[in-house]
Amino acid sequence: MRKGNPMNETSEKILEILERQSGPISGEKISEMTGITRSAVWKNINELKELGYSIESTKSKGYELKESTPKLLPHEIKKYLKTDFIGKDIRYFKNTPSTTWVAKDLCSKKDAENFNGTILIAEEQTGGVGRLGRAWFSPSGGIWTTIILKPTIPIDKLFFVTMSASIAVARTIRRMYDIGALIKWPNDIYIGDKKVSGILLELAAEADQIHYCLLGIGIDANIKPEDLQCSLQTPITSLNIEIGHDIDRAKFLATMLGEFERRYKLVEEGEYKAISREWKSLSLTLEKRVRITTPRRTFEGEAIDLDEYGALIIKKDNGKVERILSGDCTP
Ligand code: BTN
Repeated sequence: MRKGNPMNETSEKILEILERQSGPISGEKISEMTGITRSAVWKNINELKELGYSIESTKSKGYELKESTPKLLPHEIKKYLKTDFIGKDIRYFKNTPSTTWVAKDLCSKKDAENFNGTILIAEEQTGGVGRLGRAWFSPSGGIWTTIILKPTIPIDKLFFVTMSASIAVARTIRRMYDIGALIKWPNDIYIGDKKVSGILLELAAEADQIHYCLLGIGIDANIKPEDLQCSLQTPITSLNIEIGHDIDRAKFLATMLGEFERRYKLVEEGEYKAISREWKSLSLTLEKRVRITTPRRTFEGEAIDLDEYGALIIKKDNGKVERILSGDCTP
């Protein structure tokens, strides 16, 4: 089995044959095309069925792919992926505590350079991590992914990486489903007044030197209403609830990775203003009255701008202006 890929190379070859074929194809023909025995064909077909592919087998006609898998398998994502380096290496986990922990473990064993652009995906996380040390509920049906990156930018510009990710998620929702998703500072994606996605950047650095960063993206994609865990503070929704049917998660993720890579390259080229402009155009926070909660205090004011480091600029009721780099912001 290839690292992080539950599909072996032979099964993948057979799947590609079935995908190209309209109608059934005999086991004998597949055996000829792949150079394996008919019983090995049968064994691999069963493995594909176990991975969720619906394949009809009849003695007289052979095998026919009826429906693709609902799982977020690397093969499905790669069908749609048009990136240069992000997602070229995809590691898939049925169930893991957190894709961010797995990524951290990977980067601690080998130079992170080797993993620039690698993504980790889990169908389900049992110990998902959110911002400000909160737990991130990650049932099956969501998109839980961590992208390993080694950006060559000044450390104080890292916020532009998370900004690029939140823009990418909001843009993908807008382009694929024509829904007006917006970004709540710092990087939560909202549909109406409900959160649908969150982003978390973890950093490994020494002095001003970035070793690597782990960009964790959680998207409530196909989650049943009864599985959504809303808090009083944060009402939550999912894409399937908003759209009225399940989405194609592989297509969504591949599109989002493309949107992200395009902006990430701009960040690496120092085009911070372009990213900032686009983020502001999608902001749910700017020019609104907001309540800011940091570990030490809570106060209200008007969100008037975002500075060149991603800090939110608040004009308080007494006219004083404050710069907020981390915390919660409620409209
Ligand atoms: C937030 O609190 O809004 C950020 C949530 C980030 C969740 C993602 S899901 C993939 C990755 N793995 C984790 O454990 N967390 C991030």
